[in-house]
Amino acid sequence: MVTGSCSGGARAVARCDQLGLAPYSDMMGGLYRAYLTPAHRATVDQVGGWMFEAGMSARIDPAGNLVGHYPGARSDAPALIIGSHLDSVRDGGCYDGPLGVMLGIECVAALHAAGRRLPFAIDVYGFGDEEGSRFPAAMLSSRAVAGTLDVDLMTIADTHGVPLADALRDFNAADDDEGVMQILETAPLGIAGFHKARRRTGHVLAYLEAHIEQGPALEADGLAVGTVTGIAAQLRYRVVVTGMAGHAGTTTMRLRRDPLAGAAAMVLSVEQLARADNSDVVATVGMIEALPGAPNVIPGEVRFTIDVRSGVETRRDTVAEQILDRIVEIADARDLDFAIERIHDLPASPCDAALMDLMDAALVAAGQSPRRLVSGAGHDAMNMAALCPTAMLFIRCKGGISHNPAEHVDPADADIALQVMLGFIERLAAKHA
Ligand code: GLV
Ligand code: MN
Ligand code: MN
Repeated sequence: MVTGSCSGGARAVARCDQLGLAPYSDMMGGLYRAYLTPAHRATVDQVGGWMFEAGMSARIDPAGNLVGHYPGARSDAPALIIGSHLDSVRDGGCYDGPLGVMLGIECVAALHAAGRRLPFAIDVYGFGDEEGSRFPAAMLSSRAVAGTLDVDLMTIADTHGVPLADALRDFNAADDDEGVMQILETAPLGIAGFHKARRRTGHVLAYLEAHIEQGPALEADGLAVGTVTGIAAQLRYRVVVTGMAGHAGTTTMRLRRDPLAGAAAMVLSVEQLARADNSDVVATVGMIEALPGAPNVIPGEVRFTIDVRSGVETRRDTVAEQILDRIVEIADARDLDFAIERIHDLPASPCDAALMDLMDAALVAAGQSPRRLVSGAGHDAMNMAALCPTAMLFIRCKGGISHNPAEHVDPADADIALQVMLGFIERLAAKHA
């Protein structure tokens, strides 16, 4: 059985740290790596080089995903996909996403060093867009791979008005000066070929994603890793509230139609209604913008997002409906206009029962106590579940902190995760021998 170098996990963590700064970040003094930006491209070139060193070929697929390929024992073998995402939230941490990609590379490095070929190929994916931090849609690139992407790609533009089509063209055209490019086949397809990133159903055996927990459960139990049982359902809305812009000094309070004051009441109702449900429902307003945005101008328009999640889809939907009803009431009472657009809707995604058992067995073999837990955070695995059975391994993160520069993973925990992943792969290979 291949066990991997005892420091492969630590190397994965160190590589995530390296990717936390320029040129792999588009933000001074912190990490912001959005889909199809120069930082994303620099990251793809660097990580592609690491894939090459680990014994894989590497390419960029038509949706801007980086894909490393390690052939199986037979050329017609199906593939195990190991993946996570390379993009980050604004001012995020270094490990949310990239750690799962780096650990996938370490799995292949260990197998390659041992000269081990499996009854399946391994494809390591560095997905381009999971967070949705650039375009008003999330998980575009894993949805393309799974064949579940049902949005009109031609209408998507970022907040600066750059169309997705242009961003993809520039990303593919970007040149790397260090020669890493030679290992990457850049897809020349453009936006019309985006959906060609799709993988065929019968050719993918399973999907494995390792990810930091982004919550405190493993740390509280003194455990390094745990088996994920499933991922909570997500809904996201974009709300635009319109009133009347005016002079802050001359418009009497009685005459105002202030959309920001209205939005403030709406934001509070999002929090109140999710709390009042007294369940696992969580609801968040994470982005808000008042226009035109000056201290002496009553805003004319306010835009904000609402994100609602629960492990139980019906609970999520009930609370979402209550929130939308309350927004209507508040807008009516304040004589405001509004528009609400649902921009994201992903069902809850259970992990595969048989693969969870394999993961538990790999955990025990690596000397870990088995522990199962649900994910409140979204992951590319949610989309890949439409393509094949999925498995996820969570890794303890300090204080449960994530989407924050203080995100931290102990390299020793990443080493344990690598051993568990290799144990999982060996067990899967035994099943398919
Ligand atoms: C991704 O991090 C998400 O859960 O939104
Ligand atoms: Mn995230
Ligand atoms: Mn993530």
